[in-house]
Amino acid sequence: MKRAAAPEARRRSDGEPRTSLASGLLDSTETDAAGIAVRGVVGRGWRGIPRFDRFHLGRAGEKARSRTIAFPRPGCKRAAVVVDPSGHTPVLPGAVLTCLSPGRGDTVVDATVGGGGHARLLAEAIGPVGTLIGLDVDGSSLSAAEEALRDSPCRVVLIRENFGSLGRAMDAAGIGSADVILADLGVRSAQLNDASRGFSFQTDGPLDMRLDDRLTTTAADLVNGLREQALADVIYFNADERHSRRIAKRICEVRRERRIATTGMLSDVVCGALGADPASRKQKIHPATRVFQALRIAVNDELGALDRLLAAAPERLSVGGRLGVISFHSLEDGRVKRDFRSRQADGIYAVLTKRPMVADEDERNSNSRSRSAKFRVAKRIA
Ligand SMILES: C[S@@+](CC[C@H](N)C(=O)[O-])C[C@H]1O[C@@H](n2cnc3c(N)ncnc32)[C@H](O)[C@@H]1O
Repeated sequence: MKRAAAPEARRRSDGEPRTSLASGLLDSTETDAAGIAVRGVVGRGWRGIPRFDRFHLGRAGEKARSRTIAFPRPGCKRAAVVVDPSGHTPVLPGAVLTCLSPGRGDTVVDATVGGGGHARLLAEAIGPVGTLIGLDVDGSSLSAAEEALRDSPCRVVLIRENFGSLGRAMDAAGIGSADVILADLGVRSAQLNDASRGFSFQTDGPLDMRLDDRLTTTAADLVNGLREQALADVIYFNADERHSRRIAKRICEVRRERRIATTGMLSDVVCGALGADPASRKQKIHPATRVFQALRIAVNDELGALDRLLAAAPERLSVGGRLGVISFHSLEDGRVKRDFRSRQADGIYAVLTKRPMVADEDERNSNSRSRSAKFRVAKRIA
């Protein structure tokens, strides 16, 4: 039967259909509890052969409004390299592939798809009949992932969703259980280096720190709005900053005069409170490092999201499936360790990493972000 070409399938010069974010109309009636429709639109390539699925989230009949995107079907050309246009290098790539052991045809959830570095490796491993679901709360990460995964061999569905809502995201993608779930926590280099996002004390910018711009509370709101005691608690409990009270007191003194609205202002206030000179060679890390980490964790409820992911994962892994978490500070790693051990004691998981996997010297030298990375893996056994 001759197939008509889908009108929205624009062509590249090489004849392949584009897989860019196109705003087609949803034609699905499949909706989840929240009334969100998920629909793949089959794009047709040369001679009308189906070449890619395009997915959107939104209500049926509405204009697509999300970044849920489609990727080439089996048979499209494969890219040999991992690309994140922003320069982010995925940490522990060898350990991720070895410990998670993705197989041909597997269903993989990359819960923090970021620039698509790990996802690209996983996509290559699961091959043409595999499915990769990539989640991220940040639209800019999903755009980078779309680019990196453009020519992936497997079906790829990207969804703007918090991994704390793993079940909802997988339901939206029509996936009951996964063979592999990976979470590479924190932020990627492009987010950190973008002054307008407000994550870094290195460059001045608005004190924002939201990974998901749909959130309504920024770091400036916390810094200028929390009571002194609550602010000290955030700084202490999210980053083990032993001078939390002194810092909170100074912040409250300064904000009585003027709103602390930028990363530069906050950095100055913290350095002032500690009597520290950030340029001094005696400082191993910038004096404001922990305060920035604490606020970022609070703004994005990072520990809450991790707890919800860990709680949902056993139900969403197939028996024999593996969950891997890469964390970058002890608050995260401790949670992962305790969760894996308690589920091992309950006979649900076998912990595959008695000690966390860490980067070797070569990787530590070539990718500074890898220095604090800890990777733990558990396998669902019942
Ligand atoms: C370290 S990067 C991941 C990099 C990725 N593994 C790669 O190789 O390119 C972390 C990503 O997770 C996203 N993220 C952080 N917390 C999240 C959450 N709770 N739910 C979904 N995505 C999250 C960030 O926006 C960021 O893009």
